[in-house]
Amino acid sequence: MHRVLITRGIFPEIVEELSKRFEVEHNAEDRPWPPEELARRLRGKHAAMPTVMDRFDEPLLAQCPDLKVISNIAVGYNNVDVPACTKRGIRVTNTPGVLSDTTADLTWALLMAAARRVAEGDAYVRAGDWKVAFGVSFFLGQDVHHAVLGIVGMGRIGKAIVQRARGFDMRIVYHDPVRLPQAEEERLGVTFVERDRLLAEADFVLVMVPYSPATHHLIGAAEIARMKSTAVLVNTSRGGIVDDAALVEALGAKRIAAAGLDVFEGEPKVHPGYLELRNVVITPHIGSASRATRLAMCRTAVANLTAVLEGREPPNPVNVFPA
Ligand code: DGY
Repeated sequence: MHRVLITRGIFPEIVEELSKRFEVEHNAEDRPWPPEELARRLRGKHAAMPTVMDRFDEPLLAQCPDLKVISNIAVGYNNVDVPACTKRGIRVTNTPGVLSDTTADLTWALLMAAARRVAEGDAYVRAGDWKVAFGVSFFLGQDVHHAVLGIVGMGRIGKAIVQRARGFDMRIVYHDPVRLPQAEEERLGVTFVERDRLLAEADFVLVMVPYSPATHHLIGAAEIARMKSTAVLVNTSRGGIVDDAALVEALGAKRIAAAGLDVFEGEPKVHPGYLELRNVVITPHIGSASRATRLAMCRTAVANLTAVLEGREPPNPVNVFPA
């Protein structure tokens, strides 16, 4: 019987479903395993179902000769050294599609919260600082309606955000290394622009790209300097795409108005500078965190893993082997 390792706590129904076909070990305590413990537990396993926080690099893979598939419970897979897996004949799979709407919802929540200073207002009231009932220039924020929305990365989640922007009558510009076909641009109501133009024109800059060496610090001091002083930056993609030190500096100096962030370099550590700032709204990497979506992600991961172990093509391969 094939042996499967689930690296974090997971829904009981998923463990039950997998246990009908495979011998399953799972992390019931939901305590992240350090690399040595992960390697020890992976020995003799044929499949791993990890989260984005488990690093699968060459030194780890070298200790797992029986591994056939890494079925990531995530759309992102920057935690896995894919070329090393391919060399070793290990399939890597992910969970695209099922989390786009939920992640777009959180992106929109952060955009709205940062624009209208929702978290700052909440903290202000709770601290007992609200002493004067109303002021004409009290807690002024940025209008979202009729503003310019700039989306860097027009993949599934970017398109789901476009849908949400419709009711706000926004002008939407986007940049992506691969431009959409004209008919799709027209259907979505989006205009392709070069990245620097997007940064200069957008009232809201949303970063929706996967993490890779090519997107490391895609938004740094130089890019922030191109943005409007009233702009709001939102990142729900991956830590490391935005240069946290540069953004802390820019927000502190009010070079841009605000930011909404769900992901950080070195999570779960957060740059201490953010914690001192009022103009940033922070959530703890919860973009896809609804019960229905996390269940759908787990079920997709189960389908991918089962297909590989049963000798079939997985629905969501990241690396493709010649037939
Ligand atoms: C993803 O799916 O990549 C999310 O960041 C978290 O799981």
